[in-house]
Amino acid sequence: MLCRWIVLLSCSFLYAYHQKEDLSIEASIARFQAQAPVVLSDGNLAQKSPPEQSSKEAPGVTVYKKYCHTCHGNGIAGAPKVGNQLQWQERYDQGWPLIMQRALQGYKGMPAKGHCVKCTEQDIKDAIVYMMKESGINAQH
Ligand code: HEC
Repeated sequence: MLCRWIVLLSCSFLYAYHQKEDLSIEASIARFQAQAPVVLSDGNLAQKSPPEQSSKEAPGVTVYKKYCHTCHGNGIAGAPKVGNQLQWQERYDQGWPLIMQRALQGYKGMPAKGHCVKCTEQDIKDAIVYMMKESGINAQH
């Protein structure tokens, strides 16, 4: 009988301990996620942007990584490639109304909203500004 209690007790300790551990793992994952993009952009943007900008993730990065990167990261199907200033400059020179119309409604190989159905107009614009910035264009919006 005593034996069983000891087992039960140690089990509940272990469980409590685990729960505590889980929490701190979650916390450290959250901390890691918060820091990871900084590490990434530090590498990419070291020369392009001042340090205070790379310490916080720019708006549009999340949408870009999830929805736009597949095509625009590699220039698939004629998509203006992130990092290619000339390709993005041509688009930027068209002016925002046309850029936004094509991005929101789709144009040739560009799917409407880049398949991000839940994205707002602002989300899409932020992602575009981010892609342009990464290509050396300081897009005014
Ligand atoms: C399936 C591939 C694909 C995905 C995903 C995609 N794009 Fe595109 N995008 C293209 C292609 C291809 C073009 C070039 C179309 C053309 O001009 O022929 C393009 C063009 C554009 C242009 C230029 C439009 C113009 O004015 O000429 C913008 C801005 C753009 N995409 C934004 C985005 C954003 C923002 C996302 C993510 C939310 C995204 N795209 C996701 C393929 C893609």
